[in-house]
Amino acid sequence: MSLLSTSAGYGSLTKALHWLVVALFAFQFAAANIMLRMDETGVVLGLSQAAYYNWHKSIGLVALVVAGLRVLARKKGKLPPWAPTLSAGERKFIHRAEQVLYAAMFVMPVGGFIYVMASGYGVNLFGVVELPNPIGTSAWLGAVAKWTHITSAYALVAALAGHVGLVLWHQIVLRDGLLLRMLPRRGA
Ligand code: HEM
Ligand code: HEM
Repeated sequence: MSLLSTSAGYGSLTKALHWLVVALFAFQFAAANIMLRMDETGVVLGLSQAAYYNWHKSIGLVALVVAGLRVLARKKGKLPPWAPTLSAGERKFIHRAEQVLYAAMFVMPVGGFIYVMASGYGVNLFGVVELPNPIGTSAWLGAVAKWTHITSAYALVAALAGHVGLVLWHQIVLRDGLLLRMLPRRGA
């Protein structure tokens, strides 16, 4: 299997980046739900609320870099043909869902970054380096970015439900091996 995708199937780099984004997003949703439900003095799984915010912001920015790499890998490689078992309607649906997923991979971290910078919270990357604030503080920009961050999370969850639902329907009910296209050592 080649590194980049070819007409024979998804490449190993494409697959690795796909599952890395899944892991990073799973962490982001878990951390967000924990940090928003605890108070400043609380400790969950050994971490304070401030630590959860810090990890959420830092991992979110890592996810942004990974999303950038993913787009580069997609542009450098060749998109494999559609799985033959997908109907015309399913192809349209999967294409739209992937567009939302790609948009969310950028809108979510950029929205989060603008929110914390414009609101004056800042980012202490992995507790090691305080990132400069390139946009200054602005209450209205902070509010718009926060709203964008939260609403894009809902858009992502909706698109993801469709994406995963369709893959699992094909994999488990129709048994055509659609999921295997994105797993290691498999071709188209
Ligand atoms: C792929 C990346 C990211 C994902 C999937 C993500 C996801 C989420 C989710 C699901 C929430 C909870 C929204 C709600 O209230 O229902 C949240 C909140 C939050 N996120 Fe992110 N996030 C990401 C990146 C970032 C980044 C890069 C930053 C900042 C540098 C950030 C800062 C925040 C903050 C401060 C909150 C709390 C908002 C509040 O006070 O209500 N996020 N995020
Ligand atoms: C944050 C979560 C996810 C995102 C952002 C995402 C995004 C994408 C995108 C954009 C593609 C198109 C190929 C590419 O450009 O890389 C894709 C393909 C695929 N995804 Fe996901 N995905 C996510 C979660 C999942 C999960 C949980 C599964 C397992 C059920 C899954 C299974 C697949 C499969 C099997 C394909 C290949 C479909 C085909 O044959 O064309 N994805 N995903």
